[in-house]
Amino acid sequence: MTLLATGHLRRFEQQAGLIDWRDTGLERCVLDADRARILHVAAMLEEDTAITTAHARTLGLMRCPDIAAFLPQWEHEENEHALALRFLLRNQHYRVPEPTTETISIRRRLIARLPAQPLALFPETAFLFCVLGAAAEYVATVMYSELAKGSDPPVAALLRAIARQEARHFAFFEAEAKQRGAAMSALHGRVATRVLRAVWEPIGVPTLGIAAWSAVFSEWLADPRIQQRLVMMDRVVDSIPHLDGVGLMATFLDRAL
Ligand SMILES: [Fe+2]
Ligand SMILES: [Fe+2]
Repeated sequence: MTLLATGHLRRFEQQAGLIDWRDTGLERCVLDADRARILHVAAMLEEDTAITTAHARTLGLMRCPDIAAFLPQWEHEENEHALALRFLLRNQHYRVPEPTTETISIRRRLIARLPAQPLALFPETAFLFCVLGAAAEYVATVMYSELAKGSDPPVAALLRAIARQEARHFAFFEAEAKQRGAAMSALHGRVATRVLRAVWEPIGVPTLGIAAWSAVFSEWLADPRIQQRLVMMDRVVDSIPHLDGVGLMATFLDRAL
């Protein structure tokens, strides 16, 4: 436990731990191909957490005590999600999604090339890291809880356990973003909003490229109930200081569907 931890860090740490998925009968479960493909992408994204934490370190975010305490446990838990999903997927038959990285937004590549050290000096950097984290964890929670529906009991139990941890990760990022946003000037808030609009993409798009991403998710996104749950992400982001009315997901879905 970190001394003088904020309430949201304390809550995160109190419930820290790895999901229990071994010896639960996952190896006997058969997934339909569409579900397997989505979970394959989910496993890739869980593994990408290691890249995100490496970026966070480069950006100097380990100087923020709450984030520094959060990141290693977060990475540990996400890695366990990946291990469980890979175990489930190893006996499944499905067409593996092929990333089309050449389609990845040029803006993202430009951002990736920005020198990290100067960025570490701006309050927007830690704020945006947490906003993007909250948005991604919110969508992950929706995805896993929706995929749990109609799954065999061992798969449903796994996906619900992952969803509960994603919701806990979300709670940390959201609270941290709100705290940082509240302490930030209007000028920095305007800069953060512009950068957020420029860099945000739904989870999976930066990893797969939009073409491969659409091939995996378009049918799933056609369900109006799922769309409705995803658009709620905008309410979450809107409730963070400086970000009212940004409307990221609604804008994306309008374009994509
Ligand atoms: Fe995860
Ligand atoms: Fe998560």
